Amino acid sequence: MTISQKVEGMLSQASWIRKMFEEGARLKEEFGNDAVFDLSLGNPVMEPPKKLKSALALAAQDETPGLHRYMPNAGLEEARMAIARTLSPESGVQLTAKDTVMSCGAAGGLNITLKSLLDPGEEVIVFAPFFVEYLFYADNHGGKAVPVKTNDDFSIDTSALEQAITPKTKAVIINSPNNPTGVVYSRESLQAVAAVLQKASEKKGSPIYLISDDPYKKIIFDGVETPHLFEIYKDSIYISSHSKDLAVPGERIGFVVVHPECSDRDKLMSALIFCNRVLGFVNAPALIQRAIAESQDAGIDPMVYQLKRDRLYSALIEIGYSVVKPQGAFYFFPKSPLEDEVEFCRMLAQEKTLAVPGRGFGTPGYFRLSYCLPDRVIEGAIGGLRAAFEKATSL
Ligand SMILES: Cc1ncc(COP(=O)(O)O)c(C=O)c1O
Repeated sequence: MTISQKVEGMLSQASWIRKMFEEGARLKEEFGNDAVFDLSLGNPVMEPPKKLKSALALAAQDETPGLHRYMPNAGLEEARMAIARTLSPESGVQLTAKDTVMSCGAAGGLNITLKSLLDPGEEVIVFAPFFVEYLFYADNHGGKAVPVKTNDDFSIDTSALEQAITPKTKAVIINSPNNPTGVVYSRESLQAVAAVLQKASEKKGSPIYLISDDPYKKIIFDGVETPHLFEIYKDSIYISSHSKDLAVPGERIGFVVVHPECSDRDKLMSALIFCNRVLGFVNAPALIQRAIAESQDAGIDPMVYQLKRDRLYSALIEIGYSVVKPQGAFYFFPKSPLEDEVEFCRMLAQEKTLAVPGRGFGTPGYFRLSYCLPDRVIEGAIGGLRAAFEKATSL
């Protein structure tokens, strides 16, 4: 038996990520978990807020009949209402449960959205560096992700966006705070993107949708503003999850919200609900939907991540790395001191410090460090980051 050639190709394309992962596993086996400083994964270190855990326990103990049965494909009414209630003041648009579909994480939300929107060969613009799964998610639904470069500080280059738009462009994905850079896009830059898309949609005679994939929306630092796209562009779709802000990525709970004035809104809502069903998710698990409906006012404390950012940022700068200071999420994307960042990540691994090469995010020459980690791991990694930097710059 052999697997599909397409998946075979995807596996080999990602083989160096696997090699880094295998190298990490080998190092951990040889030296023990505590001796290896793994900054490669974005798995939140924080525990979910007590309020969410209690709501989960209460939901599990509820003896009301029918609570564990199939539910409407859009998700539980109470969960959809809770999301709409939370998002209305944040987005500046009055939302209801009818604008909302629950999903299996933001990943599930992206997949139902792209399946709903894309015809074969249609294009989805993503800004590099990007969350690598966008490439695969667009391909899942017959589409193609088209990477567009950003400026040196990773802000959006609107003229590059303008040039990348073709008659096949169906959507643009924005991710702010960004994985892997931690950059937050300013209101002005989002307005500039909206103006480009407005003009291009008019020329094309059909809308180019703006998808905001924002699971890090509430992990922001120094009081930076994270404007909601709903205020700026009506053909927009907001996708988020509680993987990061309630620290439950294992529970697979997310949601998709469509701007009430979006073009073809009713059809789009029906498509999203249908795609939840036919992609086999049916919907996010009932227990966690009921729990988050009761916990919208809870959240992890972003200050915990801000302090970790501050510690690692000052260490990186002191060592000599060139890096943009993140304003949210929990990643750094420093420039590699060697042009070949895969080679540099190998040097880091020799120092028992694990990072992800930037080509995994469509941007060679950089590497990603996660800091959603215990302080012990961050402190431990600083020595390796220094030793590898010194080795690389003395070559
Ligand atoms: C930018 C981005 N989008 C989507 C996801 C998927 O999140 P979820 O766990 O909610 O599916 C992630 C996860 O790391 C991410 O970084």
